[in-house]
Amino acid sequence: MKTIELKKKINGQIVGNELLFFNEIESTNRYLYQKASKNDMPDGTVVISDSQSAGRGRLKRTWISPKGKNLYISVLLKPNIIPNDATIFTFLASCALKDTFDEYGVNSKIKWPNDILIDGKKVAGVLTELKINSVSVEFIIVGIGVNINMTNNFIMCVMPDISHKVTSLSIELGKELMREEFAATLINNIDDYYLRFLKYGKSNILSVWVEKWGGIGTELEILDGEKTYKGLVESVDENGFLYIRDKDGKLEKVIAGDIAF
Ligand code: BTN
Repeated sequence: MKTIELKKKINGQIVGNELLFFNEIESTNRYLYQKASKNDMPDGTVVISDSQSAGRGRLKRTWISPKGKNLYISVLLKPNIIPNDATIFTFLASCALKDTFDEYGVNSKIKWPNDILIDGKKVAGVLTELKINSVSVEFIIVGIGVNINMTNNFIMCVMPDISHKVTSLSIELGKELMREEFAATLINNIDDYYLRFLKYGKSNILSVWVEKWGGIGTELEILDGEKTYKGLVESVDENGFLYIRDKDGKLEKVIAGDIAF
């Protein structure tokens, strides 16, 4: 990753003012969480690594993080909020990701709560983690993994069991891409949404997300541990929880399982 190129392209007000790069790290989320717990790091600090030896996905899954191909990025945010408001940051990241894919002319889709798909295959995921002290949030780490330059063959080699469900931006566009360019666009978009959050609050972000997601009124099937929710999506509440009406007319609330406290 050419860090000078990336730095030149970053033009936000908060996100990306402080940037840390690694060739190899356990997990950018874990690193930033530990550092921010010990030191006073500035709001908007970004950590990027060329590879991760123990990349983390949601629901305690592993995020396979081969070297030199993809983007592994974590952003430290320090808004003055209560823990219940934290789910919005996964949605904020999804909006920023979708805008970034739009800028590449690619039609991506948000899959609730935190996946970005192209043609039904996963191209990016978000893992939001929080540190709480008594009643307020000390900080939030928004971790994002984006498949940028993996070929189909490479995907088949490194993740054979899920290769049919995974794609990359280069597969979709048929050419190799500059990861710095994508990273800078994403960072600038996260900055835009973060400023918007600070100015207008979470309902503003949620309504943008609902529009970009487009899931209200559609049929959804969601597997949450042992339980499957299936039905028509009626609404999303201010915390991003879904309300699904099943075939017997029962309204069920579905909680995003990706927020780790
Ligand atoms: C998911 O879809 O399960 C979320 C994946 C999040 C992966 C990113 S890669 C950068 C950051 N560091 C991690 O260990 N995980 C997130």
